[in-house]
Amino acid sequence: MSYDYQSLLDRVHATVAAQPIRGKVADYIPALARVDGRRFGLALALTDGRVFSAGEADEPFSIQSMSKLFTLVMAQRLYGDDLWQRVGREPSGTAFNSLVQLEHEDGFPRNPFINAGALAVTNALVSRYAQPERAILDFLASLCGRKKIFIDEDVARSEEQHGDRNRAIAYFLKAHDRFENDVAEVTRTYFRQCAIPLTCRELAQAALFLANNGTTLDGARVLSPVQTRQTLAVMLTCGLYDGVGDFVFRVGLPAKSGVGGGIIAILPGVGSLCVWSPPLDARGNSARGIDALELIAADLAVVPGVL
Ligand code: DON
Repeated sequence: MSYDYQSLLDRVHATVAAQPIRGKVADYIPALARVDGRRFGLALALTDGRVFSAGEADEPFSIQSMSKLFTLVMAQRLYGDDLWQRVGREPSGTAFNSLVQLEHEDGFPRNPFINAGALAVTNALVSRYAQPERAILDFLASLCGRKKIFIDEDVARSEEQHGDRNRAIAYFLKAHDRFENDVAEVTRTYFRQCAIPLTCRELAQAALFLANNGTTLDGARVLSPVQTRQTLAVMLTCGLYDGVGDFVFRVGLPAKSGVGGGIIAILPGVGSLCVWSPPLDARGNSARGIDALELIAADLAVVPGVL
């Protein structure tokens, strides 16, 4: 008999939802602070085409830093190995929006998931696309099977108004000759990519190629098998910022979080998970999201780095 994924998701959802809410909804972007902390959804898309869900899996939420996974993939497609001249692949051990390490390391961002690295990646996209925002929206739409994706203008405006720290990071990269475009243009594109709302089901679907050796279920190649392994490696070592050691200890899957409370996690060869619960732990990662993934990983007997 095949594994009963639906009862696993139902059990995990019920167990985690019964526990008291820990953590705090992100409020440094005021538009995000309005989200109800009790929202909670889970989706699992399998490489055999089946999709399972529990809770509010069809409710759109702000993808935030999960967008960095998709812009990384776009930049890998455009630049190949040369991308790694622009950004590293080492865990930072510092907060996602930290400037400290950049000063010590000549403005070379440690990895593509901290804000500095994500801004370097968006800068790379701005250099190649006449309409980078359109390109990002179209890429995401094609991966999650939607005709069109829209930006939440309220969230985008709020990010722009409270984005001085990200602008500071971008100027710092520019001061080190690692940023060839206008700071305002790149930060605008970055804020807007973060302000895209998607559902757990759509995000699980969008990331499914990473569980499928780099191809979509329709057979379209997104990344080469080697690039897919590289992306999964960066997710495993950097996907949850300075909380990644604890995450790999508890869950052990390559993953990417966002301050909207979402986490995408990949089960290589099997499927792609997305969980959403807005209250965040001290590192800016969804507290319940990690709890849920820990229960799922334990049930599937995940071995970190192996599966
Ligand atoms: O740039 C920012 O700070 C946000 N737009 C995204 C940060 C984020 O999602 C970090 N993830 N946990």
